Amino acid sequence: MQKPRYYFLDNRSTVNVDFSKLGFDYLACPYRFEAVFEHGVWRVRGMIEDGTVHVPEGSQCLHYGQQLFEGMKVNRGPDGRPYAFRPLENARRLNEGARLLQGPEVPEALFLRGIEEATLANLPYLPPHGSGAALYLRPMYLGIGDNVGVKPASRYLFRVFVSPVGPYYRGGFGPDQGKSFMISRLDRAAPHGTGHIKAGGNYASSFKPGADAKAAGFADALYLDPVEHRYIEEIGAANFLAFKGDTLVTPDSGSILRSITRVSVLEIAAAIFKWPVEERKIAVDELDALAAAACCGTAAVLVWVASIVDGERRWEFPFDERWHQLYEALTGIQTASREDPFGWRYEITD
Ligand SMILES: Cc1ncc(COP(=O)(O)O)c(C=O)c1O
Repeated sequence: MQKPRYYFLDNRSTVNVDFSKLGFDYLACPYRFEAVFEHGVWRVRGMIEDGTVHVPEGSQCLHYGQQLFEGMKVNRGPDGRPYAFRPLENARRLNEGARLLQGPEVPEALFLRGIEEATLANLPYLPPHGSGAALYLRPMYLGIGDNVGVKPASRYLFRVFVSPVGPYYRGGFGPDQGKSFMISRLDRAAPHGTGHIKAGGNYASSFKPGADAKAAGFADALYLDPVEHRYIEEIGAANFLAFKGDTLVTPDSGSILRSITRVSVLEIAAAIFKWPVEERKIAVDELDALAAAACCGTAAVLVWVASIVDGERRWEFPFDERWHQLYEALTGIQTASREDPFGWRYEITD
């Protein structure tokens, strides 16, 4: 497939934005990639400038939540080049969602083309290396068409837009940056439902728990399992991690989003640091026995959990140097500041 070429003065030029001051907010960039599925085939529309999605009013994405999205970051390396992180894992997770929501898969080559072209066309918005900011990519998948019945769409839109972003939880990473989370009594996902795919509907149900937690002064909500409300699920838009003694433990659940950051952290812990890792149920009652806690995700990266509160109960966790080691190894690979023994870094070239 012939790729279009993009020309910029040099690969370090950026627009006039103070990238070090960015939060996790939308900043419109000039171009987005779009492809449409109709009559059984995907057709690339290419790069478009219109930041508004035009879809029929009867579209399944608007009424029945037949919608998926991905979130990924591209970092600028010390050489000025753009590096994505494990983009095929995002493509595979999107397609797991497409199968469950009864839509066509996005071919992996099309997914990669979308993220490459959206990055290259907006390259001056890719934050400088070392700024702490990254280019956030938002691939999205919408079931569209003139429809009123409850059934899957026959047409689909795949779009990738980008926005430079700073940290998701303000303050960054460090021993003075612990965050507190509040256990929610509301569920974000049902057992055997759509919690493990990145369907938009999962997030609408997290608005109230998130707002309640923030109104009470916490960084976000922590969810328990939707069957017994006994085991830890995940935190906001991040997976939960903890150290029990020497072992890195993380919840095993069918209703949490399988974080690509989490599998990467587990692999780093096992392969680089030789720490034992376990994916298993973690009961709330076990929080007393945990040495340290954290959460991780593309947006959050890795955040130290300083405390968890459930009504009158409160658990405090100290900063643990092992989070720092994991954070440095993960972000070092992502930003091309260190070698990548796993082959996770994906250089975007034209
Ligand atoms: C609900 C939820 N859990 C966990 C994560 C972390 O997943 P990842 O590391 O793949 O970004 C996200 C973010 O994508 C999320 O939305």
